[in-house]
Amino acid sequence: MRVAMIGTGYVGLVSGACFADFGHVVTCVDKDAAKIDQLNAGRMPIYEPGLEDLVAANVRDGRLSFALDGADAIRKADAVFIAVGTPSRRGDGHADLSYVYAAAEEIADLIEGFTVIVTKSTVPVGTGDEIERIIRARRPDADFAVVSNPEFLREGAAIGDFKRPDRVVVGLEDERARPVMAELYRPLNLNETPILFTGRRTSELTKYAANAFLALKITFINEMADLCESLGADVQQVARGIGLDNRIGGKFLHAGPGYGGSCFPKDTLALVRTATDAGSPLRLIETTVEVNDARKKAMADRVAAALGATDLKGKTVGLLGLTFKPNTDDMRDAPSLDVAPALIAMGATVQAFDPEGMHEAAKLLDGVVFRDGPYEAVEGADVVVILTEWDQFRALDLDRVKLLLKQPVMVDLRNVYRPDDMKARGFRYSSIGRPE
Ligand code: UGA
Repeated sequence: MRVAMIGTGYVGLVSGACFADFGHVVTCVDKDAAKIDQLNAGRMPIYEPGLEDLVAANVRDGRLSFALDGADAIRKADAVFIAVGTPSRRGDGHADLSYVYAAAEEIADLIEGFTVIVTKSTVPVGTGDEIERIIRARRPDADFAVVSNPEFLREGAAIGDFKRPDRVVVGLEDERARPVMAELYRPLNLNETPILFTGRRTSELTKYAANAFLALKITFINEMADLCESLGADVQQVARGIGLDNRIGGKFLHAGPGYGGSCFPKDTLALVRTATDAGSPLRLIETTVEVNDARKKAMADRVAAALGATDLKGKTVGLLGLTFKPNTDDMRDAPSLDVAPALIAMGATVQAFDPEGMHEAAKLLDGVVFRDGPYEAVEGADVVVILTEWDQFRALDLDRVKLLLKQPVMVDLRNVYRPDDMKARGFRYSSIGRPE
């Protein structure tokens, strides 16, 4: 199959590379000339384990290419994927669809023969209908079907998630698109991945429902962690105790500083707005959004509390981890964007280190001192705070950390270490939802 992938963000680039690896001929198109140059030179615009090698292998074998001008690829394509950004619209929290609609117009002018147009971007319910309307209005003669095929990959585990998904959801209204989509995903059948064919609106909503449910699950365990602290219980054991029940499932029950990233905050907000507009408000998700926002901001108070104070005047905080999760350089809606400014507002000097996120973080975080490594960030600090669970922070030389700190205090917002162990090593240690 010939595929044109519009947009080389996380979803576009990973999907494009993986479809090429499935044996299809893929052209990834982007308006950003610098990005296309970078990709053509074999450099990845994002940090994602395994991506560079996957891209290189498929470029070498002639199945994957990158283009600034997508005209030729779109004309020849059996399927054109729209994988452009859908950021939150300033002011109202709705998804901004201007990039999606611009892509639809461009596609309309170019397609030849029967073409399946697929939205991979997370788009509000009804977007497929609107794309169809735009193309039909511009090219009444065009032969096409618009399909929704949301992506469920996680950053940091993107290639594995794409190639071995729990399921693929395909929403369509025109049966002619079904064999095309089945053929695109054919290599997955070997692994017995269910491909769920639904109506287009159902598929669009399924994506939002999945992210909202996961955000809700995390927020549930975060609140349970707070309750554990009040009652002297251990949230990790509670999570295991409930997660072993198959109806609940053990994943996404790690308590922490609140969820961040490019998807959950944006998608929960957009779903809340959609539901309100539709007259069916989602009160659980409204509360999830509020609770999570407040949680991220409140993390700085825990740092002061660990030092037995209500502010951080004259204190230095060694902050480990800035990205919203490990194995990515993505800083979008990362808890650090709330936590670091709150620490500074309380009077602290913040010395931070992140393995991949500092370049981006430097643009977003005023007043933070960036250090070259975890030990440099900890040196001379009154307290070390673990904010993102990168592997290298799981394996710190704790004796060295202790010597470098002014006093041995650790606030572990990801429950990387064990309270009894830290106590035995002489640390004043606080974590999330576990007895100290
Ligand atoms: C999320 C979903 O997991 C993907 O299925 C989805 O495709 C993607 O959004 C998307 O819509 O594009 P992602 O944002 O990459 O993926 O990252 P997650 O691993 O889901 O983590 C999101 C946030 O939740 C992070 O801040 C993470 O630290 C937090 N989290 C996750 C917890 O605090 N506890 C958990 O148990 C799990």
